[in-house]
Amino acid sequence: MPDNIPTQNTGLRGVTIASTKISDVDGDAGRLIYRGYLIQDLAENATFEEVCHLLLYEKLPEEDELKDFKARLAAERDIPVELIAALKTRPKDAMPMDILQSGVAMLAHHDPDIQDTSRDALLQKALKLIAKLPTILAAWDRIRNNNEPLASNPQLDHAANFLYMLNGTVPDEEFARFFDICLVLHAEHSFNASTFAAREVASTRAHMYAAVAAAVGSLSGELHGGANVRVMEMLMEIGSLDNVETFVNQTFDAGKKLMGLGHAVYNTDDPRAHILAPMSERMGQRTGETKWYEMSKLLEVTGKKIFKQRKGRDIYANVDFYSASLYHSMGIPFDLFTTLFAISRVAGWTAHVIEEQFADAAPKPMLYRPESDYIGDYCGPDVCEFVPLTQR
Ligand SMILES: CC(C)(COP(=O)(O)OP(=O)(O)OC[C@H]1O[C@@H](n2cnc3c(N)ncnc32)[C@H](O)[C@@H]1OP(=O)(O)O)[C@@H](O)C(=O)NCCC(=O)NCCS
Repeated sequence: MPDNIPTQNTGLRGVTIASTKISDVDGDAGRLIYRGYLIQDLAENATFEEVCHLLLYEKLPEEDELKDFKARLAAERDIPVELIAALKTRPKDAMPMDILQSGVAMLAHHDPDIQDTSRDALLQKALKLIAKLPTILAAWDRIRNNNEPLASNPQLDHAANFLYMLNGTVPDEEFARFFDICLVLHAEHSFNASTFAAREVASTRAHMYAAVAAAVGSLSGELHGGANVRVMEMLMEIGSLDNVETFVNQTFDAGKKLMGLGHAVYNTDDPRAHILAPMSERMGQRTGETKWYEMSKLLEVTGKKIFKQRKGRDIYANVDFYSASLYHSMGIPFDLFTTLFAISRVAGWTAHVIEEQFADAAPKPMLYRPESDYIGDYCGPDVCEFVPLTQR
């Protein structure tokens, strides 16, 4: 093995494994950019559809390009009737991320261009996945609640249409825009675990649905996208502002983690948390229940303070921290929180799959195949002598 490859369990921290033009996370500066644009500027000024165009076509769309892109997305929202029928056969308590993952795999069965690996075909598959994932999710939530799935509303933009298909009511402008901003904020984040999973699968030349299904599986874990659900469970367990400090101490005493704090890359505030916090406060005011925002705020301050006292270093809120109270105030069921992350991040995953297979920058991507140290010591330094079944 070459000397420059780390052999300890590093989780690949600090190891650069590929080049990308899609996004950059500067963990020390707390700066996130999508194809050259600051996340703060995109969240304030761009819609999710514009961000999808930016990620997939490498430029913000002009007006006519955006109109065309939105029309193409809206035209791809429907999912196959066979998929809806399959959803109706699933146990009602199936985990939504599992539903989404199997739904993505099933979409592959119904793509007549599945074998087409041209860049144009991949862009079309990306468009389909971005358009259809929200439909699968909304259909699933309605089916498990004994309601019929709703047809999409072509008059509505992507974010508003999802909320409509989920709830059966058209959201007002502020609600729709807040959800749109959530989609913008979660759309891309360089080589995080799920994106790496998507790129690893794409590097084998498996199709885009296979890569995205793998990414959904990766995102479901509580150390990744699953953290937002765990944050909400934590807030529920804490119950009131008075209990925050005791909860933090008990959590640290037990050697457990406070969900929504810490990040593998950021050594300062996650810029997305700053954008989500005031949205959480505002949505709380709209519902007349600011308790979840206030508890989150106190938990952040107290968690940071006690972490510093105990470990002598800082910890910061990540994207999942305030998205939990925000989604709760939006009336979204807890167990859908991580799927909301997925229906946004699919934009980043598909952009990465295309880059993995069509990178024009040198060095060209290649099949991922890391090394491992074999530490099996079953028969000392030697190989084991094979013993036939009857003599064991
Ligand atoms: C995201 C996360 C996995 C980053 O991991 P990392 O940078 O590799 O950090 P580690 O998990 O190795 O932790 C480093 C140290 O900080 C501590 N730490 C990290 N996050 C912590 C948290 N949220 N609460 C309490 N302690 C934490 C660890 O216990 C460890 O302490 P030690 O050095 O005394 O053993 C980690 O911060 C975490 O699990 N956070 C909670 C889950 C979460 O919010 N995930 C969403 C990420 S966007």
